[in-house]
Amino acid sequence: MTNPSDSYPMRLQRFLARAGVSSRRGSERLMTEGRVRVNGTVVTELGSKIDPLRDEVSVDGKVCTLADRHCYLLLNKPAGYLTTMSDPYGRPTVADLVPVDEYPGLYPVGRLDADTTGCLLFTTDGRVGQNLLHPSHNVDKTYIACISGSLSETEISALEHGVEMDGCTAAPARVEVIEAGDRRLVPVRPDGLREREQVVSLTVHEGRKHQVKRMFFAVGHLVKSLHRARFGPLEAGSIPEGSWRLCTDAEIDALFSAAGLERGG
Ligand code: URA
Repeated sequence: MTNPSDSYPMRLQRFLARAGVSSRRGSERLMTEGRVRVNGTVVTELGSKIDPLRDEVSVDGKVCTLADRHCYLLLNKPAGYLTTMSDPYGRPTVADLVPVDEYPGLYPVGRLDADTTGCLLFTTDGRVGQNLLHPSHNVDKTYIACISGSLSETEISALEHGVEMDGCTAAPARVEVIEAGDRRLVPVRPDGLREREQVVSLTVHEGRKHQVKRMFFAVGHLVKSLHRARFGPLEAGSIPEGSWRLCTDAEIDALFSAAGLERGG
């Protein structure tokens, strides 16, 4: 996970708008009127950028901050993007898909594998992000997995009771078979035989690396594709893949509650 204290340069007029000083246009006017200072120096140039976490911006002598205006947004992550805010090899990352310039300090809460799609929460609020990931808060995540073969009753029971995987025991999961194996026959094998697949919903609260893939592997099935349909109170719903939307006020309330925090507290 990217450190929430990482910051991004942003246009001064955008910063002023986000800090609630004025609209973007109004902020430009304040700048050209010479009423805006950055670290004590008047800045009138409209393209000027600042680092919101390090520079002090004031208007008519009053310091402006973004501190109390955290952002919570939900991305419907497509496959092929790494969950990191930057990649030394220049591969596509989720930072390419969210408005990092507009919301400095935005970072993903937890991680989805590059080939996993679905719900990924971003926030500038390190306290909420950290609490949502902390095991003590047991935040449920629901995944829709397409797996090889089909689960037996014994395997479902193992997942529901806590399956052994690589020397540890996964916490009990909720399992729901969405599409029965015998209705999903895929002609993939070189010998011409058809391979069974099954679509299963798995709800877990743990978030270890490759958690879901390892749980299915532990009962003898490979995950062919994985989608996170729900993260705590959030659902990707109608967000198109690769797009994001700001969380609603009710969703932010629910996130605080899931994180064991009082909003405004
Ligand atoms: N479990 C996985 O195996 N992969 C993910 O991306 C998320 C959960």
